[in-house]
Amino acid sequence: MTEIADRTAFITGGANGIGLGIARSLARAGARLALVDLDADGLARAKAELDEVTQVFTAVLDVRDRTAYASVAADAEAQVGPVSILVNNAGVAGGAPAHKLSYDLWDWGMGINLDGVINGIQTFLPGMAARGAGGHIVNTASGAGLVARTGGVLYCTAKFAVVGMSEALALELPPQGIGVTVLCPGPVATDIVTRTQAAQPVTARRPLSAAQQARIEETSKYLAKGTSPDVVGDMVRDAIRKNQLYVHTDRLAMEMIMERSKALLDAMPPAA
Ligand SMILES: NC(=O)c1ccc[n+]([C@@H]2O[C@H](COP(=O)([O-])OP(=O)(O)OC[C@H]3O[C@@H](n4cnc5c(N)ncnc54)[C@H](O)[C@@H]3O)[C@@H](O)[C@H]2O)c1
Repeated sequence: MTEIADRTAFITGGANGIGLGIARSLARAGARLALVDLDADGLARAKAELDEVTQVFTAVLDVRDRTAYASVAADAEAQVGPVSILVNNAGVAGGAPAHKLSYDLWDWGMGINLDGVINGIQTFLPGMAARGAGGHIVNTASGAGLVARTGGVLYCTAKFAVVGMSEALALELPPQGIGVTVLCPGPVATDIVTRTQAAQPVTARRPLSAAQQARIEETSKYLAKGTSPDVVGDMVRDAIRKNQLYVHTDRLAMEMIMERSKALLDAMPPAA
């Protein structure tokens, strides 16, 4: 069992939604926190709340910015101690139909949802391994990292990569005592849709048709009925303790995963 108390957890996208839910749960379990995000006001709110529970470092950081990442990581470790729980969670939804994607959109979506995870691992894993005190890495992917039925081409490309990376890390890191969890949420009640709308590159902010606007509102309403981010936070806490690789927040993707697995197996050549 991985002990959480007295460890330092570094959480990207920790100001809101699932990242904040994980922060709350790990703080209650006795971890010190380093929360980074683009949302300075959200970070201030999170710090005011969680300062009551544990030591909290916060910094504005764009997870795509490798130079800033290294400097924020050094500041965080100087203030709240060496990071041994890394939660690569910052992410955006969005995208566009495949034939309307631009390089701007690809770079933005892959930059946050995949490169942001890579940057977290490159920044912290060497130190975690060298200290020899073990630890845990949590990568937030999505149900859209397991089946390509939802999320669109850009989101699925990044999230499938995060699942593959996590599975490969989980094979390699046991000798270092470092566990891996890949969080594959179904709908979670966060403001990711509106936050993404406001953040995406100008090329994606084309005037929306009434039908597109209606779809966005429908998705927001659908997510609002999803799992609470605080419940997801507790699921992640438990998965860290048990070194559980996969975390699903509901069973909604089950049939789609079975269909995909069956299609993969059906495509195998006959046994020799
Ligand atoms: N909400 C869901 O239904 C759902 C489902 C599956 C997966 N996810 C994944 O969960 C993760 C968290 O999403 P959420 O729903 O909590 O959304 P959210 O918008 O509530 O939280 C995401 C946080 O990441 C931050 N962020 C965005 N871009 C960033 C950047 N470049 N650098 C640093 N911080 C940045 C945002 O400011 C925000 O605080 C994402 O990776 C998302 O893809 C969410």
